Amino acid sequence: MNKGQILVVDDEAAQRDILRTILTAEGYGVETARTAAEALEKGGHQQFDLILTDLKMPGADGLTLVRDLSRAEPPALVIIMTGHGSQDTAEQAMKQGAFDYLIKPLERGDLLRIVSRAFDRIRLIEENRLLRRQLEERYRVEGIVGSHYRIQEVFDKLHRVSNSNSTVLITGESGTGKELIARAIHRHSLRKDRPFVAVSCAAIPENLIESELFGHEKGAFTGAVDRHQGLFEAADKSTLLLDEIGELSVNMQAKVLRTLQEREVRRVGGRESIKIDVRIIAATNKNLEEEVVRGSFREDLFYRLNVVIIALPPLRERSTDIPQLAEYFIARACAEAGRPPMPVTTEAMRLLLTYHWPGNVRQLEAVLQRAVLLSDGHKVDYTDLPIEVRFSTLPPREPQASPGAAGDYRFLLPAEGIQLEEVERSFILQAMELSGWVIAKAAKLLGLSYRTLQYRLEKFQIRREHIEETGASKADAVEAEGGPRTS
Ligand SMILES: Nc1ncnc2c1ncn2[C@@H]1O[C@H](COP(=O)(O)OP(=O)(O)OP(=O)(O)O)[C@@H](O)[C@H]1O
Ligand SMILES: [Mg+2]
Repeated sequence: MNKGQILVVDDEAAQRDILRTILTAEGYGVETARTAAEALEKGGHQQFDLILTDLKMPGADGLTLVRDLSRAEPPALVIIMTGHGSQDTAEQAMKQGAFDYLIKPLERGDLLRIVSRAFDRIRLIEENRLLRRQLEERYRVEGIVGSHYRIQEVFDKLHRVSNSNSTVLITGESGTGKELIARAIHRHSLRKDRPFVAVSCAAIPENLIESELFGHEKGAFTGAVDRHQGLFEAADKSTLLLDEIGELSVNMQAKVLRTLQEREVRRVGGRESIKIDVRIIAATNKNLEEEVVRGSFREDLFYRLNVVIIALPPLRERSTDIPQLAEYFIARACAEAGRPPMPVTTEAMRLLLTYHWPGNVRQLEAVLQRAVLLSDGHKVDYTDLPIEVRFSTLPPREPQASPGAAGDYRFLLPAEGIQLEEVERSFILQAMELSGWVIAKAAKLLGLSYRTLQYRLEKFQIRREHIEETGASKADAVEAEGGPRTS
């Protein structure tokens, strides 16, 4: 039985032959190559588990080969063969990702031991990969991306509550995916064939919300020309998402609580109660416990909702999911634009990974959608990212920090450098825009005195009409399209 595929790379024919003989006798499949280039070419056609390569060869050396191969997906395991006296290079190769090295002349016993150890490692990696895939399969929820343990916990809870009728409270900052989870719960429940109903308690004016939720009878109030079915009734035998429930007035909270307790609604101006069977999911980006303490959220309603709580972590606390989310959003944006998916450069990925994402997944999605449009069509590079992602890597510790606390920011200098004046100019422009061209306000945002800012406005010749005249820079244009912004 073939124990695995090995590629032997050496410019000496005798060396290749001897290795082929020994390894084939042990049950490994062996291919050979004379140069690094030939090795890469063979690797492109056929998958090798292990590569045994000489370090010094004509043309590209073994070191470059090690680097290229250990970057491949899946990465190949590489064992270096090197002459006496070149241990240094061998150590260097290990740093580049080589698995181990052998000193020439090769000793059969050593060779087989190291090869066998390499295959133990390969099996382990494969097992891990399989386990991870099984885990991801088990916890996968269609259209929701994430492998971080906190998202896996969310998926786990989602699967456990979906089939019950239990009320669910979803909390999390803006853009963390609360509505996405609510819809997924509905989709995985027995109610899935009925339409999901969502209402944003923040979007409806106070005087309309009661009739929106509970409906009204004809003539219940001026303008009530017809009988109107409320959203609770519309969601009968289905799921109702009360989004941004923290925005509900205390008065409406009492009415919602009664509905949850009695499982019936009464239309505005109506006398009869109508039985309903609705599964309630509530979502909020507020801390309801704090709202209870403050007296703006009813404690009894809070306990009624707080049966199962799904807390979505902010994106910055699960940044290991960013590469996966980025790939997903880019693929989607590319598909919409009718293009093949494109990779993210290392530099751009580093920025995506270090940015603090105040707008969470929604902001990441928006940033990448734009990046795809701005890109050269082959890759998403750091120049395609908006300025706040490029230059700010840490949020101020306090969102409303006092002026001068800007020292809490850390700016990442890209390896190829920046034009400091351009950056300064861009920040000043943004501050002026943000503060409606009031110099005193902009100065506060920048931690500058009025006079210093005035001086710089002159130095950079920044005037209001300037923007309209010249058009904003590329990064500014992205900003202006209204991406979520740090306040
Ligand atoms: N894990 C995820 N995988 C894929 N897309 C996601 C994920 N989380 C969020 N999104 C996407 O991010 C956007 C925001 O999600 P959603 O509307 O559910 O957030 P939200 O928490 O309800 O935000 P808000 O509080 O502002 O209403 C949506 O386009 C959603 O599809
Ligand atoms: Mg929402």
